[in-house]
This record gives sequence, C-alpha cells and structure tokens, in this order.
Amino acid sequence: MLRDQPESLPDPRMRTYRIAPSILSADFARLGDEVRAVIEAGADWIHFDVMDNHYVPNLSFGPMVCEALRKHAVRPDGTKVPIDVHLMVTPVDALAQAFAKAGADRISFHPDASVHVDRTIQLIHAEGLQAGLVFNPAYPLDVLEWTIDAIDLVLIMSVNPGFGGQSFIPGALKKIEQVRKLIDASGRDIRLEVDGGIKTDNIRAVADAGADTFVAGSAVFGQPDYKSVIDAMRARLAA
Ligand code: DX5
Ligand code: ZN
Repeated sequence: MLRDQPESLPDPRMRTYRIAPSILSADFARLGDEVRAVIEAGADWIHFDVMDNHYVPNLSFGPMVCEALRKHAVRPDGTKVPIDVHLMVTPVDALAQAFAKAGADRISFHPDASVHVDRTIQLIHAEGLQAGLVFNPAYPLDVLEWTIDAIDLVLIMSVNPGFGGQSFIPGALKKIEQVRKLIDASGRDIRLEVDGGIKTDNIRAVADAGADTFVAGSAVFGQPDYKSVIDAMRARLAA
C-alpha cells in the first residue's frame, strides 16, 4: 500500500503543533465570548463540530452560527483564527458550500457521508478552502490511496462521533501511525488532526504516533482556566 518512501522523510521534531479547541463543549449561550476567550488562551484553530442528527445521533449548529462567530475568531492583533469545520452530516455538498460562504477556512467530511468523495473535495477547493477527510474508529483508510494527492488534512476520530467528553480509543494510535507514513510518503503538506478524548495526559502519545493537530473540547472548555490547560498541552508537546 505504501509508495516507496522518499529519501529524506520530514524530521518529526520540525512539526508545528496546532491546538484546536472544539466549541461543542463551550457555553452555547455565550459562544462569541467563548471563542474570544479560548483564542486569548492560546488556541491555534477553532474546531466547529457540525452534527445533523442523521449522520450522528446529535444536533449542533449550522452555517449561520459560523457566520456569527467569524468576527469573533480573531486574535487580539486582529488576525483571523482558522475556523476548522468538521461536518458530521450527510449529504455533504450543499452544507460544505454553505459553510464556505459562512467564513470557514477548512472543511473536513466523512468519506462514508458523501456519494462522490472526489467531487466533494473538488467542490470545497472550488470555494477556495482546504479540504479534509475524517475517519471514524472502525472506518478503513483505503480511500486515502486515491485522495492523498488532493487533500490538505486527515482527521482521525479517536472517539465515535456525536458527543464531547468521551474517552480516547487507544486503537486510534495505530491508525495515526499508518496515516503519518502515508502523508510522509506523499511528500505533501497535509496536516494530521486527531479528534476525541484528547487530554493533557495523552496528547504526547498522540503526537508520538504522528499527529500534529489536536482537537480538544471538554479538556479545555470543561476547565475554569483555558490558558493553563492549553499551556500544559503545549508543554507536553514540547517535552
Ligand atoms: C465528537 C466531536 C469532537 C468532540 C471532541 O463527535 O467530533 O470534536 O467535540 O470533544 P472531546 O475533546 O471532549 O472528546
Ligand atoms: Zn470534531
């Protein structure tokens, strides 16, 4: 499955880590303030979990909420913080386009939720956004063989999608290692994001498996001091 490895594989220590708090665990009555607070606390991205109560057994928020939050997803110096949309919806295409118009920066979708995966990737790129594929714990990586040259991000679920606050599924580590090999063999700049049950005490192991981007919902928003959690995660990543 793996293409022959290029001579010089990227040095893992050169990876730039990104922490993407998921607003699924934020206070929905104060989402604008929460986005500003978690950015102030050091968040690199805002992870935006879209659930349709069809692909997953939960219902969260849509493009209008993304549009409302766009102006809040800024750093104190005014620069934009990427909104990292995770579509747990089916069908995908119309909502992907709606989120693109609502200010999303990257859109990831589950290949099993789209009838034509390559067309959906093209559609997201046509909106000028980065496109990612999301893999549930039991879903195989095969589709990467035919999409690795088109995508910008791979998102590995380390919980079954639908809810925050679940426990990390250890089997995800092996999958992360496999994806890391595929990304390095492709020679392309593809981010490897992991989503679900990420905490300060497991983020290092997830990074060692090959991840460079970490979704954290309840680990961050469940705490009174967002900065201390994010700083603790960064310290583990730097260790
Ligand atoms: C679950 C979502 C995750 C979730 C992560 O379906 O995709 O992003 O919000 O929440 P924690 O970090 O609490 O597992
Ligand atoms: Zn997510």
